[in-house]
Amino acid sequence: MEQNKDLSQVDIPPAKRIYLNNSNSILFKKLLIVSPFLCLLFSLLVLRLIRNIEIGSLGNINFQAQINHDHRILGHLPYAEIPKEKLVLIEPNIQVHIDMRDSLLEMRDEAKKNGIYLVFLSGYRSINLQNEIFYSLKSLRNQEAVERARVSAPPGYSEHSTGFAIDIGDATQRETDFETEFENTDAFRWLIKNAAKFHFKLSFTKDNKFIDYEPWHWRYEGSIEALKIFESSNRKS
Ligand code: DAL
Ligand code: ZN
Repeated sequence: MEQNKDLSQVDIPPAKRIYLNNSNSILFKKLLIVSPFLCLLFSLLVLRLIRNIEIGSLGNINFQAQINHDHRILGHLPYAEIPKEKLVLIEPNIQVHIDMRDSLLEMRDEAKKNGIYLVFLSGYRSINLQNEIFYSLKSLRNQEAVERARVSAPPGYSEHSTGFAIDIGDATQRETDFETEFENTDAFRWLIKNAAKFHFKLSFTKDNKFIDYEPWHWRYEGSIEALKIFESSNRKS
């Protein structure tokens, strides 16, 4: 009977064993050992890369927000119109913010004592008037907005609407009114030397990128209200 056959007579082949003892196998073993660490390192690198990309795009958003924060249009900052009750007449056609009147008149008197005759050309302008000045002349002169904005603020963007701006001429050289040549007058030289004593500052200097140089246009910074209004301009980029 097959079942009763002596087991010693059965030919069982010896088990084959494979020994991982060649150099490739050693490398494979080492790789198996370090692979978890490599995976961990790779994951950390990927996480870091994602984080850097997120920070980068957040930075861009913040930068964009900063650019848009002061809401400039064609280089001009926005200004609200002064309430009518804060306006005061200083010449038949010239109104200014009541807080600036005394300083402005004192400056004119002081200049006069020095033989300099200042003349006031334009003070407060309503947003409606600024609208006329900007668009009517733009059309008349066939100018694009960017070109027009070099010499005139769009409505809602003029310092004149705050009541704290004043255009000044030299009473002895009226041909220089609203002209760059005003910088060659005695009045301008006097203002450059003395205006800060009366808290006036030249708004549109030669280094302005978008707005032309206006040696006749001065603004008052002698009150906290005025300083708040012109804060963005004083922080200008
Ligand atoms: N001329 C200045 C820029 C104004 O219009 O306010
Ligand atoms: Zn002006």
